[in-house]
Amino acid sequence: MNIAIVGATGLVGRKIIKLCEEFFDSSVEFQLFASKTSEGKILSVNDKDLPIKELNIRNIEPCDIALFSAGGVRSKEYANEFVDRGAFVIDNSSTFRMNDDIPLVVYGINENTINEKTKIIANPNCTTMALVMALKPLHDIFKLVGIVPVSYQAVSGSGKDAVESLNNELLNLQNSGSAPDEKYYKTQIAKNVIPVAGNMTENGYTDEEMKFSNESKKILNIPNLIVEPSNARVGVETGHGIFCSATFEEDVDVDKAIESINLFEGVEYWANDFPTPVDAEGNRNIFVSRIRSGLSSKKILNFWAVGDNLLKGAALNAVQIASYIQKNDIYSR
Ligand SMILES: NC(=O)c1ccc[n+]([C@@H]2O[C@H](COP(=O)([O-])OP(=O)(O)OC[C@H]3O[C@@H](n4cnc5c(N)ncnc54)[C@H](OP(=O)(O)O)[C@@H]3O)[C@@H](O)[C@H]2O)c1
Repeated sequence: MNIAIVGATGLVGRKIIKLCEEFFDSSVEFQLFASKTSEGKILSVNDKDLPIKELNIRNIEPCDIALFSAGGVRSKEYANEFVDRGAFVIDNSSTFRMNDDIPLVVYGINENTINEKTKIIANPNCTTMALVMALKPLHDIFKLVGIVPVSYQAVSGSGKDAVESLNNELLNLQNSGSAPDEKYYKTQIAKNVIPVAGNMTENGYTDEEMKFSNESKKILNIPNLIVEPSNARVGVETGHGIFCSATFEEDVDVDKAIESINLFEGVEYWANDFPTPVDAEGNRNIFVSRIRSGLSSKKILNFWAVGDNLLKGAALNAVQIASYIQKNDIYSR
């Protein structure tokens, strides 16, 4: 088996490499791609030094699975080039997510939408992924009708340049002029909260907020789900947190809700402590806490969820999907 990692030098790509070392045996071969700037640099996979290739048509060779984390422009231009050479493409960008013919997959929820014909598979938005992991076991019992999610999104959700900017801002706050003062976001993010995550769209919501709305409906297969999202960017390096008020068709029993969450693989309920992004960083599970019944209705449940945006929000889910394709032999059908 041969796996291509596109965007191998990025925050997500580097996590993908580490996870691939664990999920696949050493017989699997890897090709690494990034921009021209990284061409020829060396990254190690399974203790083997691999040179990075520039992503261009000439360098694309046949492979079984291509894991894309190089931004939407590259996905649009090159995903089908890999498919034409026989690969399954698992794409971390938003390019294909809302395409009817392309499955939007959260491993653990709807990987059964993958088959030998679905050569492109979209990996959902990181905040949406953490939230639907918490919602799915609740929906299975109480039938979800609507959500009001409010997210607190970490800086690493915007990539390596944003993390560098956060660190430079922190240095400059401590010692003015000690680091470059170019800011990734328009407003200072270090020690701050910006009440906008993503880009504004015409309806007054950001694209990140619209992803919450569109993607959760598709993943959970609830076309009429009511979603009223608000997303903020916070001066945290990694770990997206979400407060969510969820309304169900049926009255909700809090104990049953907690039990269902604990039985769902990949989600963990914290009964005695309040998980933060710092707790979530480096962890594969989505942590849920503060489940409580609504003040105005027994059909409402309010809770907090937090997860590592680079893991279940991106790299881990992509590698879980790749491993599912391999284990079920879908790639060789
Ligand atoms: N960060 C998250 O939490 C998260 C979550 C879900 C989805 N995503 C998505 O995953 C993708 C990558 O995110 P990231 O956070 O890893 O970003 P990042 O840290 O900024 O890394 C971007 C990667 O893309 C590569 N790249 C940029 N321009 C390229 C070009 N012209 N040709 C080939 N490669 C190019 C970069 O290579 P160089 O190093 O050579 O520039 C780098 O490997 C994005 O589509 C993002 O929306 C991210």
